Amino acid sequence: MAKNSVVDLRSDTVTRPSPEMRRAIAEAEVGDDVLGDDPTINRLQERVAELLGKEAALFFPSGCQANQAAIILHSEPGTEAICEANAHHIDYELVGAATWSGVQLRPVPTEDGILTADHVRPYIRRTDDRFTPRTTLICAENTHNMAGGKVMPLDVLRGLRELAMEHGLPLHLDGARLWNASVATGVPLADFAAQTSTLMVTFSKGLGAPVGSALAGSVEAMERAWTIRKRLGGGMRQAGILAAGALYGLEYNLPRLAKDHARARRLTEFVNGLDGFSVVPPDTNIIMIEIERSDLSPKRAIGYLRERGVLVLATARPGQLRAVTHLDVDDAGIERACEAFEALAATPSG
Ligand SMILES: Cc1ncc(COP(=O)(O)O)c(C=O)c1O
Repeated sequence: MAKNSVVDLRSDTVTRPSPEMRRAIAEAEVGDDVLGDDPTINRLQERVAELLGKEAALFFPSGCQANQAAIILHSEPGTEAICEANAHHIDYELVGAATWSGVQLRPVPTEDGILTADHVRPYIRRTDDRFTPRTTLICAENTHNMAGGKVMPLDVLRGLRELAMEHGLPLHLDGARLWNASVATGVPLADFAAQTSTLMVTFSKGLGAPVGSALAGSVEAMERAWTIRKRLGGGMRQAGILAAGALYGLEYNLPRLAKDHARARRLTEFVNGLDGFSVVPPDTNIIMIEIERSDLSPKRAIGYLRERGVLVLATARPGQLRAVTHLDVDDAGIERACEAFEALAATPSG
């Protein structure tokens, strides 16, 4: 990292394609994917299905659209989909479930973002009550973004799956960062995926591709998802140039996620050693920093860090900052972030 370049820790979505990824993108073989003719997209979909141990996968322009397609696929208008209270579906998909599916999201509060079968059980509502909405879907998120990249352990996901099956309900997993969960735990992606009816994975976060996500599930589910994607305006033509970036990310950037996790731990340990901040050690690459000084607002902290070339975001929670490690932040960048936080901690009150 060049000495004066900005250390952008706002999100792992800020990565720019490397020269090698750009070469793969430039050289991608393409065709009209709406006609099924794009060889690079077909290769990506096969690779994702194979990695996740699912029958089929479908390329989407974004994680939000793939999640929304899954909710449409599994639910019915006028019913409820259960998810964790701070799930991406609730906070960041702009009421998509109500808009596109006519579904009410039923938020289930947890202590740490990890939605267990015990949390969900009391919220499942079935058909025999005329006055309450029926549950048609359970959603999970792994890793959990707003819980600080928290990994949902495999046995917790398995418990959710068993509960879903007991009630004849589908289980959709928002696995935008399932790559990180797998690398952090050593649990194969397919073991997580086996617990789900469908799951969404994203290429434009830790894997460093510019665009794209995939939904995976049975052949029958992906056939239906194809139509839903088209209806949502997600049918793309020579989008093999995007799939090439995703394929490159899977091959070269997936194995290196452990470095992002180690760098997140380094920054956490450093910031935890400073007065006025506390951080719960992250499982993966998302660091949630609590400001414990009443005189220091997130806005002021962000402005101060920005002046020192370090970018972080405020979250929706009062007094909380978020910093995310990714492939465009190296060890030198983390040390610059540590120095900027040290200077911030030393600022006088007021
Ligand atoms: C957990 C989670 N799910 C879904 C998404 C949506 O992905 P996209 O930005 O590709 O729509 C994000 C994006 O940050 C996310 O963090």
